[in-house]
Amino acid sequence: MTNSKHILITGSNGQLGNECRVLSLNYPQYTYTFVSRDELPIDDFDAVKKIFSCTQFDYCINCAAYTAVDQAEVEQSLAFKMNAEAVENLAGLCKQYSVQFIHISTDYVFDGENALGYNELDATSPLNVYGASKLAGEKAALAINPSSIIIRTSWVYSSFGKNFVKTMMRLMREKEQISVVADQIGRPTYAADLADAIFNIISKHHQIIPGIYHFANEGIISWFEFAQEIKLIRANNCQIMPIKSIEYPVPAKRPHYSILSTNKIESTFGIHMSHWKDSLRRCMQLIQ
Ligand SMILES: NC(=O)c1ccc[n+]([C@@H]2O[C@H](COP(=O)([O-])OP(=O)(O)OC[C@H]3O[C@@H](n4cnc5c(N)ncnc54)[C@H](OP(=O)(O)O)[C@@H]3O)[C@@H](O)[C@H]2O)c1
Repeated sequence: MTNSKHILITGSNGQLGNECRVLSLNYPQYTYTFVSRDELPIDDFDAVKKIFSCTQFDYCINCAAYTAVDQAEVEQSLAFKMNAEAVENLAGLCKQYSVQFIHISTDYVFDGENALGYNELDATSPLNVYGASKLAGEKAALAINPSSIIIRTSWVYSSFGKNFVKTMMRLMREKEQISVVADQIGRPTYAADLADAIFNIISKHHQIIPGIYHFANEGIISWFEFAQEIKLIRANNCQIMPIKSIEYPVPAKRPHYSILSTNKIESTFGIHMSHWKDSLRRCMQLIQ
């Protein structure tokens, strides 16, 4: 009979879920239950209730989300069901069963009009359905379970799943010239670094101060600069052309300047932010 702390990780087939699984090997002192969408659809309230009533968890890291930003414009109710209602349900069960709820949100809760970037107290104003659904989830979680931790992050990539880095690597292989948006500025986040921060918080802090925190890698860049660095690391000859967002129309509007200030998570939990170039190199080494 073990009395190690038990961590439930939902959405385990996603970028962050997979990185948590990899990192869990470094934390053998915990017991883990990883559940994919097939194993535990978090919008199936009966199934979620059942797992909480059968197993006493200590932490729930919710890596499950509706993340199809453009598709959300036409699947509004599905996005809200997943990102708001299911999150509220999870947060409520965590409160009922005394489980620390750790949930992930997004820079897309902001409109990107603040030239100074955003701290956790700044006013939110999402530009698209996905951002609105994630904001509704944050609010619902904190209302039903004020002990929740919400970590907003931005521009997430990983060696797992689909993301900008892998798409660029493929396009640079296939094409002689590509165009990349240069007027959207943000802070990329390697999902492995985010997973590391979460495990750091869990393992080093017995009293977790709840609330909203921002996490992203160090450095502020455009998607164009991101692509240029990928090209540099790959030593690729593909020509990258900077374009404006207006020249690459997509259904969901994106913030132009969504810079998350990460001072709070650094000072509260002593988390060190890796520079985006170092993290990108580490990730690309795993992809190659
Ligand atoms: N990706 C980004 O750029 C970004 C930026 C800011 C914030 N975030 C947030 O960061 C968190 C992690 O994102 P990520 O990049 O790891 O996302 P991801 O790779 O899309 O993973 C999300 C996971 O959720 C699962 N899922 C979808 N519907 C579900 C349901 N009904 N029940 C259970 N699981 C379900 C998906 O299952 P399938 O594998 O079957 O599809 C997928 O494995 C999310 O909260 C996201 O909103 C992401």
